Amino acid sequence: MTDTTSPRTGAPDDRVLIFDTTLRDGEQSPGATMTHAEKLEIAEMLDEMGVDIIEAGFPIASEGDFEAVKAIAEQSKDATICGLARANLKDIDRCWEAVKHARSPRIHTFIGTSPLHRAIPNLTQDEMADRIHETVTHARNLCDNVQWSPMDATRTEWEYLKRVVEIAIKAGATTINIPDTVGYTAPVESADLIRRLIAEVEGGEDVVFATHCHNDLGMATANSLAAVAGGARQIECTINGLGERAGNTALEEVVMALKVRHDIMPWSTRVDSTKIMNISRRVATVSGFPVQFNKAIVGKNAFAHESGIHQDGMLKNAETFEIMRPSDVGLKETNLVMGKHSGRAALRSKLKELGFELADNQLNDVFVRFKALADRKKEVYDDDLEALMRDQSAGEGNEHLQVKFLRVICGTEAPQSADLTLTIDGVDHQTTAQGDGPVDATFNAVKALFPHEARLQLYQVHAVTEGTDAQATVSVRMEENGRVVTGQSADTDTVVASAKAYVTALNRLIVRRRTAGENADVKAVSYKDVG
Ligand code: KIV
Ligand code: ZN
Repeated sequence: MTDTTSPRTGAPDDRVLIFDTTLRDGEQSPGATMTHAEKLEIAEMLDEMGVDIIEAGFPIASEGDFEAVKAIAEQSKDATICGLARANLKDIDRCWEAVKHARSPRIHTFIGTSPLHRAIPNLTQDEMADRIHETVTHARNLCDNVQWSPMDATRTEWEYLKRVVEIAIKAGATTINIPDTVGYTAPVESADLIRRLIAEVEGGEDVVFATHCHNDLGMATANSLAAVAGGARQIECTINGLGERAGNTALEEVVMALKVRHDIMPWSTRVDSTKIMNISRRVATVSGFPVQFNKAIVGKNAFAHESGIHQDGMLKNAETFEIMRPSDVGLKETNLVMGKHSGRAALRSKLKELGFELADNQLNDVFVRFKALADRKKEVYDDDLEALMRDQSAGEGNEHLQVKFLRVICGTEAPQSADLTLTIDGVDHQTTAQGDGPVDATFNAVKALFPHEARLQLYQVHAVTEGTDAQATVSVRMEENGRVVTGQSADTDTVVASAKAYVTALNRLIVRRRTAGENADVKAVSYKDVG
Protein backbone atom coordinates (compact mmCIF):
# COMPACT_ATOMS: atom_id res chain seq x y z
CA MET A 1 0.00 0.00 0.00
CA THR A 2 1.32 3.49 -0.79
CA ASP A 3 1.85 5.96 2.02
CA THR A 4 0.58 9.01 0.14
CA THR A 5 -3.03 10.08 0.59
CA SER A 6 -5.25 10.87 -2.36
CA PRO A 7 -6.96 14.28 -2.04
CA ARG A 8 -9.87 12.76 -3.96
CA THR A 9 -10.64 9.64 -1.90
CA GLY A 10 -9.04 10.79 1.37
CA ALA A 11 -7.49 7.30 1.40
CA PRO A 12 -4.12 5.92 0.31
CA ASP A 13 -3.41 6.55 -3.39
CA ASP A 14 -3.75 2.91 -4.36
CA ARG A 15 -7.06 2.43 -2.53
CA VAL A 16 -10.23 1.57 -4.39
CA LEU A 17 -13.35 2.37 -2.40
CA ILE A 18 -15.94 -0.38 -2.26
CA PHE A 19 -19.52 0.88 -2.55
CA ASP A 20 -21.98 -1.89 -1.82
CA THR A 21 -25.49 -1.57 -3.23
CA THR A 22 -26.89 -5.00 -2.25
CA LEU A 23 -29.55 -3.25 -0.18
CA ARG A 24 -30.56 -0.86 -2.98
CA ASP A 25 -29.81 -2.10 -6.51
CA GLY A 26 -29.67 -5.72 -5.31
CA GLU A 27 -32.86 -5.53 -3.33
CA GLN A 28 -34.57 -3.87 -6.30
CA SER A 29 -34.27 -7.17 -8.15
CA PRO A 30 -37.80 -8.64 -8.40
CA GLY A 31 -38.24 -11.13 -5.59
CA ALA A 32 -35.17 -10.12 -3.58
CA THR A 33 -37.13 -8.13 -1.00
CA MET A 34 -35.66 -8.31 2.50
CA THR A 35 -37.29 -7.61 5.83
CA HIS A 36 -36.29 -4.62 7.97
CA ALA A 37 -34.34 -6.84 10.39
CA GLU A 38 -32.56 -8.63 7.54
CA LYS A 39 -31.48 -5.32 5.98
CA LEU A 40 -30.02 -4.17 9.29
CA GLU A 41 -28.19 -7.44 9.71
CA ILE A 42 -26.67 -7.33 6.21
CA ALA A 43 -25.66 -3.68 6.68
CA GLU A 44 -23.89 -4.57 9.92
CA MET A 45 -22.03 -7.40 8.20
CA LEU A 46 -21.00 -5.09 5.34
CA ASP A 47 -19.75 -2.48 7.82
CA GLU A 48 -17.79 -5.09 9.74
CA MET A 49 -16.16 -6.53 6.64
CA GLY A 50 -14.75 -3.11 5.69
CA VAL A 51 -17.07 -1.90 2.92
CA ASP A 52 -16.45 1.86 2.55
CA ILE A 53 -19.90 3.00 1.45
CA ILE A 54 -23.21 1.18 1.94
CA GLU A 55 -26.09 2.23 -0.28
CA ALA A 56 -28.84 1.36 2.16
CA GLY A 57 -31.93 2.01 0.03
CA PHE A 58 -34.15 4.48 -1.76
CA PRO A 59 -35.81 6.43 1.07
CA ILE A 60 -38.65 8.00 -0.93
CA ALA A 61 -39.72 4.61 -2.35
CA SER A 62 -41.77 3.65 0.72
CA GLU A 63 -42.09 4.19 4.45
CA GLY A 64 -40.33 0.82 4.92
CA ASP A 65 -37.37 1.88 2.77
CA PHE A 66 -37.09 5.15 4.66
CA GLU A 67 -37.13 3.46 8.06
CA ALA A 68 -34.54 0.90 6.94
CA VAL A 69 -32.11 3.55 5.64
CA LYS A 70 -32.58 5.60 8.81
CA ALA A 71 -31.99 2.61 11.09
CA ILE A 72 -28.91 1.54 9.10
CA ALA A 73 -27.58 5.10 9.35
CA GLU A 74 -28.13 5.08 13.11
CA GLN A 75 -26.34 1.75 13.65
CA SER A 76 -23.44 2.49 11.27
CA LYS A 77 -19.89 2.36 12.60
CA ASP A 78 -17.14 2.87 10.00
CA ALA A 79 -18.99 2.86 6.70
CA THR A 80 -20.47 5.90 4.98
CA ILE A 81 -24.24 5.43 4.60
CA CYS A 82 -25.75 6.50 1.34
CA GLY A 83 -29.35 6.83 0.15
CA LEU A 84 -30.61 7.13 -3.42
CA ALA A 85 -32.71 10.04 -4.69
CA ARG A 86 -34.06 10.96 -8.11
CA ALA A 87 -33.36 14.43 -9.48
CA ASN A 88 -36.01 16.35 -7.56
CA LEU A 89 -35.96 18.29 -4.32
CA LYS A 90 -38.56 16.14 -2.55
CA ASP A 91 -36.58 12.93 -3.14
CA ILE A 92 -33.37 14.59 -2.00
CA ASP A 93 -34.94 16.02 1.17
CA ARG A 94 -36.38 12.63 2.08
CA CYS A 95 -33.05 10.96 1.44
CA TRP A 96 -31.28 13.45 3.69
CA GLU A 97 -33.83 12.91 6.47
CA ALA A 98 -32.89 9.22 6.44
CA VAL A 99 -29.10 9.34 6.02
CA LYS A 100 -28.36 12.34 8.21
CA HIS A 101 -28.29 10.06 11.27
CA ALA A 102 -25.12 8.38 10.04
CA ARG A 103 -21.68 9.22 11.35
CA SER A 104 -20.79 9.74 7.70
CA PRO A 105 -23.82 10.37 5.43
CA ARG A 106 -23.96 10.61 1.63
CA ILE A 107 -26.74 11.62 -0.78
CA HIS A 108 -26.70 9.87 -4.16
CA THR A 109 -28.81 11.57 -6.80
CA PHE A 110 -29.22 10.51 -10.42
CA ILE A 111 -30.97 11.19 -13.70
CA GLY A 112 -31.02 9.26 -16.99
CA THR A 113 -28.92 11.21 -19.49
CA SER A 114 -28.93 9.03 -22.63
CA PRO A 115 -31.30 9.98 -25.47
CA LEU A 116 -33.68 7.15 -24.53
CA HIS A 117 -33.78 8.22 -20.89
CA ARG A 118 -34.06 11.94 -21.66
CA ALA A 119 -37.19 11.18 -23.66
CA ILE A 120 -39.04 9.86 -20.60
CA PRO A 121 -39.34 13.12 -18.63
CA ASN A 122 -39.36 14.80 -22.07
CA LEU A 123 -36.57 17.24 -21.20
CA THR A 124 -34.33 19.00 -23.70
CA GLN A 125 -30.58 18.79 -23.11
CA ASP A 126 -30.62 22.33 -21.66
CA GLU A 127 -33.58 21.66 -19.38
CA MET A 128 -31.93 18.55 -18.05
CA ALA A 129 -28.65 20.39 -17.49
CA ASP A 130 -30.54 23.01 -15.42
CA ARG A 131 -32.25 20.26 -13.41
CA ILE A 132 -28.88 18.66 -12.64
CA HIS A 133 -27.44 21.96 -11.48
CA GLU A 134 -30.43 22.69 -9.26
CA THR A 135 -30.65 19.25 -7.66
CA VAL A 136 -26.94 18.70 -7.03
CA THR A 137 -26.68 22.21 -5.53
CA HIS A 138 -29.64 21.42 -3.27
CA ALA A 139 -28.12 18.10 -2.17
CA ARG A 140 -24.78 19.75 -1.49
CA ASN A 141 -26.45 22.42 0.68
CA LEU A 142 -27.72 19.59 2.86
CA CYS A 143 -24.72 17.27 2.87
CA ASP A 144 -20.97 17.59 2.26
CA ASN A 145 -20.80 14.22 0.58
CA VAL A 146 -22.81 14.09 -2.66
CA GLN A 147 -22.65 11.47 -5.39
CA TRP A 148 -24.16 12.12 -8.79
CA SER A 149 -24.91 9.57 -11.52
CA PRO A 150 -25.83 10.07 -15.17
CA MET A 151 -27.89 6.91 -15.55
CA ASP A 152 -27.18 5.01 -18.80
CA ALA A 153 -23.91 6.97 -19.08
CA THR A 154 -22.40 4.41 -21.43
CA ARG A 155 -25.12 5.15 -24.02
CA THR A 156 -25.03 8.94 -23.52
CA GLU A 157 -23.47 11.10 -26.28
CA TRP A 158 -19.88 11.91 -25.28
CA GLU A 159 -20.26 15.73 -25.58
CA TYR A 160 -23.43 15.74 -23.49
CA LEU A 161 -21.97 13.39 -20.88
CA LYS A 162 -18.93 15.62 -20.53
CA ARG A 163 -21.13 18.68 -20.20
CA VAL A 164 -23.40 17.27 -17.47
CA VAL A 165 -20.56 15.76 -15.47
CA GLU A 166 -18.90 19.18 -15.45
CA ILE A 167 -22.15 20.81 -14.27
CA ALA A 168 -22.52 18.28 -11.44
CA ILE A 169 -18.93 18.86 -10.31
CA LYS A 170 -19.40 22.64 -10.36
CA ALA A 171 -22.62 22.25 -8.35
CA GLY A 172 -20.67 20.40 -5.66
CA ALA A 173 -20.78 16.66 -6.39
CA THR A 174 -17.83 14.95 -4.71
CA THR A 175 -18.23 11.56 -6.43
CA ILE A 176 -19.22 11.08 -10.07
CA ASN A 177 -20.56 7.61 -10.73
CA ILE A 178 -20.60 6.33 -14.31
CA PRO A 179 -23.32 3.67 -14.59
CA ASP A 180 -23.39 1.06 -17.30
CA THR A 181 -27.09 0.65 -16.56
CA VAL A 182 -27.87 -1.97 -19.19
CA GLY A 183 -24.56 -3.85 -19.15
CA TYR A 184 -23.64 -2.58 -22.62
CA THR A 185 -20.01 -1.52 -22.33
CA ALA A 186 -16.83 -3.61 -22.74
CA PRO A 187 -13.51 -3.40 -20.84
CA VAL A 188 -11.54 -1.27 -23.32
CA GLU A 189 -14.39 1.22 -23.64
CA SER A 190 -15.00 1.26 -19.87
CA ALA A 191 -11.38 2.20 -19.12
CA ASP A 192 -11.27 4.74 -21.90
CA LEU A 193 -14.46 6.50 -20.81
CA ILE A 194 -13.19 7.12 -17.28
CA ARG A 195 -9.74 8.13 -18.52
CA ARG A 196 -11.23 10.69 -20.92
CA LEU A 197 -13.63 12.08 -18.31
CA ILE A 198 -10.83 12.62 -15.78
CA ALA A 199 -8.64 14.24 -18.43
CA GLU A 200 -11.17 16.36 -20.27
CA VAL A 201 -13.83 17.43 -17.76
CA GLU A 202 -13.04 20.62 -15.89
CA GLY A 203 -12.65 19.67 -12.22
CA GLY A 204 -12.38 15.96 -13.13
CA GLU A 205 -9.11 15.69 -11.22
CA ASP A 206 -10.76 16.82 -7.98
CA VAL A 207 -13.54 14.26 -7.60
CA VAL A 208 -13.73 10.50 -7.21
CA PHE A 209 -14.94 8.67 -10.31
CA ALA A 210 -16.96 5.54 -9.62
CA THR A 211 -17.91 2.64 -11.86
CA HIS A 212 -21.31 0.92 -11.63
CA CYS A 213 -21.69 -2.03 -13.98
CA HIS A 214 -24.49 -4.43 -14.79
CA ASN A 215 -23.78 -7.92 -16.02
CA ASP A 216 -26.05 -8.34 -19.05
CA LEU A 217 -23.14 -9.47 -21.25
CA GLY A 218 -21.27 -11.15 -18.40
CA MET A 219 -18.62 -8.42 -18.34
CA ALA A 220 -19.50 -6.46 -15.19
CA THR A 221 -16.43 -7.51 -13.19
CA ALA A 222 -14.07 -7.02 -16.14
CA ASN A 223 -15.63 -3.63 -16.93
CA SER A 224 -15.32 -2.48 -13.31
CA LEU A 225 -11.66 -3.47 -13.09
CA ALA A 226 -10.96 -1.82 -16.45
CA ALA A 227 -12.59 1.37 -15.17
CA VAL A 228 -10.21 1.28 -12.20
CA ALA A 229 -7.29 0.97 -14.62
CA GLY A 230 -8.73 4.06 -16.32
CA GLY A 231 -8.71 6.00 -13.04
CA ALA A 232 -11.95 5.12 -11.24
CA ARG A 233 -11.42 4.84 -7.48
CA GLN A 234 -14.80 3.49 -6.41
CA ILE A 235 -16.40 0.23 -7.51
CA GLU A 236 -20.14 -0.21 -7.05
CA CYS A 237 -21.13 -3.81 -6.50
CA THR A 238 -23.36 -6.26 -4.69
CA ILE A 239 -22.83 -9.47 -2.75
CA ASN A 240 -23.22 -12.51 -5.06
CA GLY A 241 -23.74 -10.04 -7.93
CA LEU A 242 -27.37 -9.73 -6.80
CA GLY A 243 -29.33 -7.34 -8.98
CA GLU A 244 -31.94 -6.94 -11.66
CA ARG A 245 -31.72 -9.09 -14.80
CA ALA A 246 -28.19 -10.59 -14.91
CA GLY A 247 -27.22 -8.63 -11.79
CA ASN A 248 -24.50 -6.18 -10.82
CA THR A 249 -20.73 -6.46 -10.44
CA ALA A 250 -20.09 -9.04 -7.69
CA LEU A 251 -18.23 -7.62 -4.67
CA GLU A 252 -16.43 -10.89 -3.99
CA GLU A 253 -15.11 -11.04 -7.56
CA VAL A 254 -13.57 -7.56 -7.67
CA VAL A 255 -12.16 -7.83 -4.15
CA MET A 256 -10.50 -11.19 -4.84
CA ALA A 257 -9.32 -10.20 -8.34
CA LEU A 258 -7.55 -7.17 -6.88
CA LYS A 259 -6.03 -9.34 -4.19
CA VAL A 260 -4.94 -12.32 -6.30
CA ARG A 261 -3.68 -10.27 -9.28
CA HIS A 262 -2.14 -7.40 -7.33
CA ASP A 263 0.92 -7.87 -9.55
CA ILE A 264 -0.93 -6.44 -12.56
CA MET A 265 -3.71 -4.49 -10.77
CA PRO A 266 -1.84 -2.63 -8.02
CA TRP A 267 -4.88 -1.38 -6.11
CA SER A 268 -6.31 -2.58 -2.85
CA THR A 269 -9.53 -2.45 -0.88
CA ARG A 270 -10.27 -2.32 2.83
CA VAL A 271 -12.48 -5.43 2.66
CA ASP A 272 -11.66 -8.38 4.93
CA SER A 273 -12.01 -11.17 2.38
CA THR A 274 -12.34 -13.87 5.04
CA LYS A 275 -15.84 -12.56 5.74
CA ILE A 276 -17.00 -13.11 2.15
CA MET A 277 -18.42 -16.61 2.49
CA ASN A 278 -20.55 -15.80 5.52
CA ILE A 279 -22.18 -12.75 4.01
CA SER A 280 -22.63 -14.50 0.67
CA ARG A 281 -24.63 -17.27 2.35
CA ARG A 282 -26.63 -14.83 4.39
CA VAL A 283 -27.55 -12.71 1.36
CA ALA A 284 -28.52 -15.86 -0.56
CA THR A 285 -30.82 -16.86 2.28
CA VAL A 286 -32.51 -13.55 2.95
CA SER A 287 -32.88 -12.61 -0.71
CA GLY A 288 -34.09 -16.06 -1.74
CA PHE A 289 -31.59 -16.03 -4.63
CA PRO A 290 -29.39 -19.11 -4.27
CA VAL A 291 -25.82 -18.89 -5.57
CA GLN A 292 -25.18 -20.94 -8.72
CA PHE A 293 -22.82 -23.88 -8.05
CA ASN A 294 -20.12 -22.72 -10.45
CA LYS A 295 -20.23 -19.03 -9.45
CA ALA A 296 -16.74 -17.56 -9.09
CA ILE A 297 -15.45 -17.25 -5.49
CA VAL A 298 -18.67 -18.16 -3.62
CA GLY A 299 -20.19 -21.02 -5.63
CA LYS A 300 -20.34 -24.44 -3.99
CA ASN A 301 -17.91 -25.79 -6.62
CA ALA A 302 -15.53 -22.81 -6.65
CA PHE A 303 -12.97 -24.72 -4.59
CA ALA A 304 -14.07 -28.29 -5.34
CA HIS A 305 -11.61 -30.43 -7.25
CA GLU A 306 -13.45 -33.53 -8.23
CA SER A 307 -11.96 -34.70 -11.50
CA GLY A 308 -9.21 -37.30 -11.03
CA ILE A 309 -6.54 -35.19 -12.72
CA HIS A 310 -7.26 -32.19 -10.50
CA GLN A 311 -7.40 -34.24 -7.31
CA ASP A 312 -4.08 -35.84 -8.03
CA GLY A 313 -2.45 -32.46 -8.65
CA MET A 314 -4.04 -30.98 -5.55
CA LEU A 315 -2.73 -33.76 -3.34
CA LYS A 316 0.80 -33.14 -4.58
CA ASN A 317 0.64 -29.36 -4.38
CA ALA A 318 -2.51 -27.28 -3.72
CA GLU A 319 -1.19 -24.48 -5.91
CA THR A 320 -1.42 -26.69 -9.01
CA PHE A 321 -5.08 -25.83 -9.43
CA GLU A 322 -5.71 -23.21 -6.75
CA ILE A 323 -4.97 -19.52 -7.21
CA MET A 324 -6.35 -18.65 -3.78
CA ARG A 325 -6.93 -20.61 -0.63
CA PRO A 326 -10.47 -21.45 0.51
CA SER A 327 -9.61 -19.81 3.84
CA ASP A 328 -8.92 -16.50 2.00
CA VAL A 329 -12.68 -16.17 1.49
CA GLY A 330 -13.60 -17.65 4.86
CA LEU A 331 -14.36 -21.14 3.63
CA LYS A 332 -13.60 -23.79 6.18
CA GLU A 333 -12.87 -27.39 5.34
CA THR A 334 -16.13 -29.34 5.41
CA ASN A 335 -15.47 -31.54 8.41
CA LEU A 336 -17.42 -33.86 10.61
CA VAL A 337 -18.37 -31.68 13.51
CA MET A 338 -20.99 -33.11 15.75
CA GLY A 339 -23.09 -36.12 16.47
CA LYS A 340 -26.10 -36.90 18.61
CA HIS A 341 -23.96 -37.13 21.74
CA SER A 342 -22.55 -33.61 21.36
CA GLY A 343 -23.59 -31.27 24.12
CA ARG A 344 -24.86 -27.71 24.33
CA ALA A 345 -21.43 -26.20 25.03
CA ALA A 346 -19.89 -27.94 22.03
CA LEU A 347 -22.72 -26.69 19.84
CA ARG A 348 -22.33 -23.14 21.10
CA SER A 349 -18.61 -23.17 20.46
CA LYS A 350 -19.00 -24.67 16.96
CA LEU A 351 -21.66 -22.13 16.03
CA LYS A 352 -19.44 -19.32 17.29
CA GLU A 353 -16.67 -20.58 15.03
CA LEU A 354 -19.14 -20.45 12.13
CA GLY A 355 -20.01 -16.83 12.95
CA PHE A 356 -23.25 -17.30 14.95
CA GLU A 357 -23.24 -15.84 18.47
CA LEU A 358 -26.35 -16.98 20.31
CA ALA A 359 -28.07 -15.86 23.47
CA ASP A 360 -29.04 -18.66 25.89
CA ASN A 361 -32.68 -18.85 24.81
CA GLN A 362 -31.70 -18.93 21.13
CA LEU A 363 -29.19 -21.68 21.85
CA ASN A 364 -31.88 -23.73 23.56
CA ASP A 365 -34.12 -23.58 20.47
CA VAL A 366 -31.29 -24.44 18.12
CA PHE A 367 -30.11 -27.26 20.38
CA VAL A 368 -33.51 -28.96 20.21
CA ARG A 369 -33.46 -28.75 16.42
CA PHE A 370 -29.84 -29.90 16.27
CA LYS A 371 -30.68 -33.00 18.33
CA ALA A 372 -33.59 -33.79 16.03
CA LEU A 373 -31.29 -33.47 13.03
CA ALA A 374 -28.54 -35.56 14.61
CA ASP A 375 -31.09 -38.28 15.34
CA ARG A 376 -32.03 -38.48 11.68
CA LYS A 377 -28.60 -37.86 10.17
CA LYS A 378 -25.56 -39.74 11.42
CA GLU A 379 -22.99 -37.14 10.42
CA VAL A 380 -23.60 -33.45 11.00
CA TYR A 381 -21.27 -31.15 9.05
CA ASP A 382 -20.58 -27.42 9.20
CA ASP A 383 -22.83 -26.95 6.18
CA ASP A 384 -25.64 -28.75 8.01
CA LEU A 385 -25.32 -26.44 10.98
CA GLU A 386 -25.32 -23.40 8.73
CA ALA A 387 -28.45 -24.67 6.96
CA LEU A 388 -30.05 -25.23 10.37
CA MET A 389 -29.25 -21.65 11.39
CA ARG A 390 -30.54 -20.25 8.09
CA ASP A 391 -33.70 -22.31 8.50
CA GLN A 392 -34.14 -20.97 12.01
CA SER A 393 -33.95 -17.34 10.91
CA ALA A 394 -36.00 -17.93 7.73
CA GLY A 395 -38.78 -19.32 9.90
CA GLU A 396 -38.68 -16.42 12.36
CA GLY A 397 -41.79 -14.31 11.98
CA ASN A 398 -43.86 -17.32 10.90
CA GLU A 399 -46.57 -16.11 13.22
CA HIS A 400 -49.66 -16.94 11.23
CA LEU A 401 -49.13 -20.26 9.49
CA GLN A 402 -47.09 -23.23 10.69
CA VAL A 403 -46.74 -26.77 9.39
CA LYS A 404 -47.71 -29.04 12.27
CA PHE A 405 -48.00 -32.44 10.61
CA LEU A 406 -47.32 -33.74 7.12
CA ARG A 407 -47.46 -37.22 5.67
CA VAL A 408 -47.30 -37.93 1.96
CA ILE A 409 -48.10 -41.03 -0.02
CA CYS A 410 -46.06 -41.22 -3.17
CA GLY A 411 -44.55 -43.72 -5.57
CA THR A 412 -45.13 -45.09 -9.04
CA GLU A 413 -48.91 -45.20 -8.68
CA ALA A 414 -50.65 -41.84 -9.09
CA PRO A 415 -52.18 -39.85 -7.59
CA GLN A 416 -49.80 -38.83 -4.84
CA SER A 417 -51.48 -37.39 -1.77
CA ALA A 418 -50.57 -35.25 1.22
CA ASP A 419 -52.18 -35.30 4.63
CA LEU A 420 -51.47 -31.92 6.23
CA THR A 421 -52.20 -30.17 9.49
CA LEU A 422 -51.56 -26.44 9.34
CA THR A 423 -51.72 -24.24 12.42
CA ILE A 424 -53.39 -20.98 11.41
CA ASP A 425 -53.23 -18.25 14.01
CA GLY A 426 -53.06 -20.83 16.78
CA VAL A 427 -55.82 -23.16 15.50
CA ASP A 428 -55.09 -26.50 13.82
CA HIS A 429 -56.71 -27.26 10.47
CA GLN A 430 -56.37 -30.49 8.57
CA THR A 431 -56.90 -31.66 5.02
CA THR A 432 -55.82 -34.27 2.49
CA ALA A 433 -55.03 -33.21 -1.07
CA GLN A 434 -53.80 -34.92 -4.18
CA GLY A 435 -51.34 -33.71 -6.79
CA ASP A 436 -48.90 -34.53 -9.50
CA GLY A 437 -46.11 -35.71 -7.20
CA PRO A 438 -45.63 -35.27 -3.43
CA VAL A 439 -44.63 -31.59 -3.54
CA ASP A 440 -47.58 -30.65 -5.74
CA ALA A 441 -49.92 -32.57 -3.43
CA THR A 442 -48.45 -30.77 -0.39
CA PHE A 443 -48.78 -27.33 -1.95
CA ASN A 444 -52.37 -28.16 -2.95
CA ALA A 445 -53.08 -29.09 0.68
CA VAL A 446 -51.64 -25.77 1.92
CA LYS A 447 -53.71 -23.91 -0.64
CA ALA A 448 -56.86 -25.77 0.37
CA LEU A 449 -56.39 -24.66 3.97
CA PHE A 450 -55.15 -21.19 3.16
CA PRO A 451 -56.69 -20.16 -0.18
CA HIS A 452 -54.72 -17.49 -2.03
CA GLU A 453 -54.07 -16.21 -5.54
CA ALA A 454 -50.27 -15.93 -5.25
CA ARG A 455 -48.42 -17.42 -8.21
CA LEU A 456 -45.44 -19.69 -7.63
CA GLN A 457 -42.59 -18.12 -9.64
CA LEU A 458 -39.71 -20.29 -8.48
CA TYR A 459 -39.24 -23.63 -6.76
CA GLN A 460 -35.66 -24.78 -6.26
CA VAL A 461 -33.98 -27.59 -4.31
CA HIS A 462 -30.30 -27.77 -3.31
CA ALA A 463 -28.59 -30.56 -1.39
CA VAL A 464 -26.64 -29.11 1.57
CA THR A 465 -24.06 -31.92 1.68
CA GLU A 466 -23.38 -35.18 -0.11
CA GLY A 467 -25.21 -38.44 0.59
CA THR A 468 -28.80 -39.58 0.39
CA ASP A 469 -29.41 -38.48 3.98
CA ALA A 470 -28.34 -34.90 3.14
CA GLN A 471 -30.56 -32.00 4.08
CA ALA A 472 -32.32 -30.29 1.18
CA THR A 473 -32.59 -26.51 1.09
CA VAL A 474 -35.75 -25.47 -0.73
CA SER A 475 -36.36 -21.93 -2.00
CA VAL A 476 -39.69 -20.66 -3.27
CA ARG A 477 -40.66 -17.31 -4.72
CA MET A 478 -44.28 -16.19 -5.04
CA GLU A 479 -46.03 -13.19 -6.52
CA GLU A 480 -49.38 -11.63 -5.70
CA ASN A 481 -50.52 -8.34 -7.25
CA GLY A 482 -46.96 -7.29 -8.04
CA ARG A 483 -45.77 -8.16 -4.53
CA VAL A 484 -43.00 -10.73 -4.51
CA VAL A 485 -42.07 -12.81 -1.47
CA THR A 486 -39.62 -15.63 -0.88
CA GLY A 487 -39.33 -18.50 1.56
CA GLN A 488 -36.57 -20.96 2.34
CA SER A 489 -36.27 -24.02 4.52
CA ALA A 490 -33.96 -26.98 5.08
CA ASP A 491 -34.78 -30.52 6.15
CA THR A 492 -33.57 -34.04 5.50
CA ASP A 493 -37.03 -34.60 4.02
CA THR A 494 -37.35 -32.62 0.80
CA VAL A 495 -41.15 -32.52 0.98
CA VAL A 496 -41.11 -31.17 4.55
CA ALA A 497 -38.56 -28.51 3.52
CA SER A 498 -40.81 -27.63 0.58
CA ALA A 499 -43.90 -27.27 2.77
CA LYS A 500 -42.04 -25.08 5.28
CA ALA A 501 -40.51 -22.88 2.58
CA TYR A 502 -43.94 -22.41 1.00
CA VAL A 503 -45.51 -21.54 4.34
CA THR A 504 -42.68 -19.08 5.17
CA ALA A 505 -43.38 -17.26 1.89
CA LEU A 506 -47.11 -17.15 2.69
CA ASN A 507 -46.38 -15.73 6.16
CA ARG A 508 -44.36 -12.99 4.50
CA LEU A 509 -47.19 -12.33 2.10
CA ILE A 510 -49.61 -11.86 5.00
CA VAL A 511 -47.20 -9.36 6.59
CA ARG A 512 -46.84 -7.51 3.26
CA ARG A 513 -50.62 -7.36 2.83
CA ARG A 514 -50.94 -5.92 6.32
CA THR A 515 -48.17 -3.36 5.76
CA ALA A 516 -50.03 -2.25 2.63
CA GLY A 517 -53.13 -1.74 4.79
CA GLU A 518 -55.09 -4.54 3.13
CA ASN A 519 -57.47 -6.77 4.97
CA ALA A 520 -55.26 -9.72 5.72
CA ASP A 521 -57.42 -11.46 8.25
CA VAL A 522 -56.15 -14.98 7.81
CA LYS A 523 -59.18 -16.33 9.63
CA ALA A 524 -61.58 -14.84 7.10
CA VAL A 525 -61.40 -17.89 4.87
CA SER A 526 -63.19 -21.15 5.56
CA TYR A 527 -61.23 -24.15 6.75
CA LYS A 528 -61.98 -27.69 7.59
CA ASP A 529 -61.22 -27.76 11.31
CA VAL A 530 -59.48 -30.68 12.91
CA GLY A 531 -61.92 -33.25 14.16
O1 KIV B 1 -27.81 1.12 -12.95
C1 KIV B 1 -27.99 2.31 -12.70
O2 KIV B 1 -27.94 3.19 -13.56
C2 KIV B 1 -28.30 2.67 -11.32
C3 KIV B 1 -28.34 4.12 -11.01
C4 KIV B 1 -29.50 4.52 -10.18
C5 KIV B 1 -27.04 4.54 -10.41
O3 KIV B 1 -28.47 1.81 -10.48
ZN1 ZN C 1 -27.69 -0.16 -11.24
